Amino acid sequence: MDFMTIILAAGKGTRMCSNLPKVVHKVNGIPMICKIIGEIEKLNPQKNIVVLGHMKEIVEKAIEEKIIGKNAKIEYVLQEEQLGTGHAVLSTKGNFSEYNGDIMLLYGDTPLLRSQTLSDFYEYHKKSDATTTVMTTICENPYGYGRIIKDNNQVKKIIEEKEASTEEKKIKEVNAGVYCFKSRDLLNALDKINNNNEKGEYYLTDVISIQVSENKNIKSYILTDNVEVMGVNSKIELAEASKILRTRKNNELMKDGVILIDPDNTYIEENVEIGKDTVIYPGANLQGRTKIGENSEIIGNTRIIDSILGNNVKIENSVIEESIVENYVTIGPFAHLRKGSHLKEYVHIGNFVETKKSTLEKGVKSGHLTYLGDTHVGENTNIGAGTITCNFDGINKFKTEIGRDAFIGSDSILVAPVVIGDNALIGAGSVITKNVPDNALSVERNKQLIKTGWRKK
Ligand code: UD1
Ligand code: CA
Repeated sequence: MDFMTIILAAGKGTRMCSNLPKVVHKVNGIPMICKIIGEIEKLNPQKNIVVLGHMKEIVEKAIEEKIIGKNAKIEYVLQEEQLGTGHAVLSTKGNFSEYNGDIMLLYGDTPLLRSQTLSDFYEYHKKSDATTTVMTTICENPYGYGRIIKDNNQVKKIIEEKEASTEEKKIKEVNAGVYCFKSRDLLNALDKINNNNEKGEYYLTDVISIQVSENKNIKSYILTDNVEVMGVNSKIELAEASKILRTRKNNELMKDGVILIDPDNTYIEENVEIGKDTVIYPGANLQGRTKIGENSEIIGNTRIIDSILGNNVKIENSVIEESIVENYVTIGPFAHLRKGSHLKEYVHIGNFVETKKSTLEKGVKSGHLTYLGDTHVGENTNIGAGTITCNFDGINKFKTEIGRDAFIGSDSILVAPVVIGDNALIGAGSVITKNVPDNALSVERNKQLIKTGWRKK
């Protein structure tokens, strides 16, 4: 759309009581600042200026890592000292002094705003030809927000909580913190703001009364859904905002055909994708960029992070991190797929099995109590209970290669680097340190001693 944006994210967020800057705190799994940038990006503005200050490296890193589309046109501006929202905008002056057009300004701590709302707001601003449009909403409890002072339904000024008189504090129409400005008029007014107020800050909100005094046309756009403009200033509000986003996400998924047995107890982060008729039982934590196909079942306290799962998979009470799980795989209960695990079709991983950087080809079964690290297992091989690949000698990691149609007897220890051939058989309880050829039997254990009648002596 035909505007640029300025997003303020330099503040410390004192009320968060945190060692981290406010805007990197996560709402339903993504940093607040990334959530808002993601919504803005959908409108494809000409460019986006993000004002950073307090711990700017951390905020910038969060944005660079998590941003929805990697093609966001972002320019960072440093506000050395956080002297107020007006001061923050002033520090971007150099980035738009040549620009003659509309600027949408937002705060980095309002993560519930939707792109649709922002686009409706912009259309309204365009049509009304206002110098400035401010988004407002009606709040039953307006505490903490700037109040909209109107005269004859015309916006006169915005008064901050700290400066508001008892009468003004009763006003329920509040400043949502989203504005559309005309760049030239914004620059003119910014030059006139001061910090003669209770907080000793340069308030952006003073731009409104300055423009009113110059007979500019100021409009308000009243948003009926006041939830959307909620600013997050404390960790209580952070949890509230997360909950709202979670409900939104769950509802979207259900609309698209996903079955959530108990949405209130299901935690699905913003960027997770799930196919239709997949059933998610309560207790699931689906995080990051996880994708799950159709017709699958995610049961119990299963946590899946940044992983890709196919159709018809069934996972019970397990943890899956940065892994790939193909169609018809069954996992759990109580399995752990660590980074770099790849389970191909029809693999079964059962109770207390851990995999790491390992590929299990089609049809491999490993039902119980096993560790497979840095391992490749060929098709249809069966891994007996208690099998351990010893991939680490204390200094280096080594690989284990197991062929297809092999059978690894229970309680085997495979000391890497080692190769077990196709169709090989490893006798239970063996410690295998030498390669085993195709079709061979290898047993490594003492002969069983039997002394008849021993107990009778
Ligand atoms: C602000 C508005 C208030 C509005 C509310 C909506 C002002 C003066 N007040 O109040 O009218 O109702 O938002 O949520 O604008 N920031 C900077 N640099 C600074 C100060 C702040 O970049 O020097 C950033 C913060 O990081 C934050 C945003 O601006 O993302 C808003 O600042 P905050 O202190 O939360 O303002 P509020 O008191 O909530
Ligand atoms: Ca705020």
